[in-house]
Amino acid sequence: MDVSESLEAAINQQIGHEFSASHSYLSMASYFERIAYDGFAAWMHLQSGEERVHAMKFYNYLLDRGGVVKLPSIEAPRYEYNSPLEVFEASLQQEQEVSKSIYHLYKLASDEGDYATVSFLKWFIDEQVEEEKTVGDMIDKLKRAQDNPEAILLLDRFASERKSGEEE
Ligand SMILES: [Fe+2]
Ligand SMILES: [Fe+2]
Repeated sequence: MDVSESLEAAINQQIGHEFSASHSYLSMASYFERIAYDGFAAWMHLQSGEERVHAMKFYNYLLDRGGVVKLPSIEAPRYEYNSPLEVFEASLQQEQEVSKSIYHLYKLASDEGDYATVSFLKWFIDEQVEEEKTVGDMIDKLKRAQDNPEAILLLDRFASERKSGEEE
């Protein structure tokens, strides 16, 4: 059974959100590279790559379900920030918006009785919980570090040790 037109449109929108997140994380990486926080930059590069993987999961799913991929345009991301904390707060906000749009997709799919899409989306719902938690933890650590340069450098080092989720 092919995906409905309304779900096709919503999935295409979601592909746009994931690519937009990937773009935004790349821009955050460039900010950190500019000010020589290599660990935070590595974190953002990793994150940018993961968002691209998410976009491609939707892309492949849409094709598998007989849909047409219509890539939406992507806005230019922000490239200027005042502190690492500000970047991670922007990251959390972005993740929360993505979570909301995945919930919206889920509701659309379940209202239509498209159980294949409902099942497909479950992975993303769990993934968003994980991502929001990871970013939230970093925000807590950065708040605790406040303006202490040594503490922030320690967190930069900690960020460089982050690994991609193996289950992906
Ligand atoms: Fe994502
Ligand atoms: Fe994400």
